[in-house]
Amino acid sequence: MKHIIANFKSNKNTAEIKEWVSVFLHAIQHQALSTSIVLCPPLPHLSFFESVSRTKNIALGVQDMSPFPAGSYTGAVGTKNLEEYKIQFAIVGHSERRRYFHETNQDIANKVHECIQAGITPIVCVTKEEINAQANALTDDERKKVMVAFEPIEHIGTGTSDSLTNILETKKWIQTAFGDVPYIYGGSVNPSTDSTILQSEDIDGFLVGSACLDPEVFYTLLSKIQ
Ligand code: PGA
Repeated sequence: MKHIIANFKSNKNTAEIKEWVSVFLHAIQHQALSTSIVLCPPLPHLSFFESVSRTKNIALGVQDMSPFPAGSYTGAVGTKNLEEYKIQFAIVGHSERRRYFHETNQDIANKVHECIQAGITPIVCVTKEEINAQANALTDDERKKVMVAFEPIEHIGTGTSDSLTNILETKKWIQTAFGDVPYIYGGSVNPSTDSTILQSEDIDGFLVGSACLDPEVFYTLLSKIQ
C-alpha cells in the first residue's frame, strides 16, 4: 500500500482548515481507500484532524521535529509535546528546512533520533547531493527505521515532476546508501502527473505539497494512485 503524505506547509488559517477537513471527510466517506494517507498540517491545527485520523487508513504526521528532548529549547516542539496526538510520521530534512532554517545533516540525524525514540517514523527528505552524507549521519539502526523521500528542489512547487527514469535511478542510490528503506518521491505530484509514476510499483509513496491544499484536488490525486 502506497503512502501519500500531505504536507500543508505554513498554509491555512483555522477556518480554512475546518473547511478542508469537512470537504475531505465528505469526499472519502463512502470510499474504500487503498492508500495509506498521512496528513501533516501546521501544528496548531492538529486537533482538527482527530476526526479524520479516526477514519480508514489515515495517519497524522508533523512537518518537522525538534532535534532535542523535552527541556529548555524555546520555540521547539518535540515528541513530548506531541504525545496526545498519536503522531505516526514526521517529515524531517525538507529542503525548505535546510534552506531557510539552515539545518544540517547532523541536525536532521538528531531529529531522526528523537522520532525513533518516540516510535514515530521519520520521513527523511534528500536531494541527490545529500544522499550519502545524510545516510552517513545516521546509525545503522536508525537507517533501518526511516522512510526516505527523494525531493529534487528543481521540481518542488513548479508543476512538473521529475521523470520516472530519474526517480527510479535515484532510488538505487538511496537504497545503496540507506538500505532497503521505503522510497518516497516528492516534487509537483498532482492529478496530472504521469500515471506511470503514480502507479509505479517501485515507488512506495508520494510527498504532496501544493496538490493537497484543495481537498478535492487531493482526493482526485488519491483516486489516481489507488
Ligand atoms: P509540491 O511540494 O508538491 O508543491 O511540489 C512538494 C514538497 O515540498 O515536498
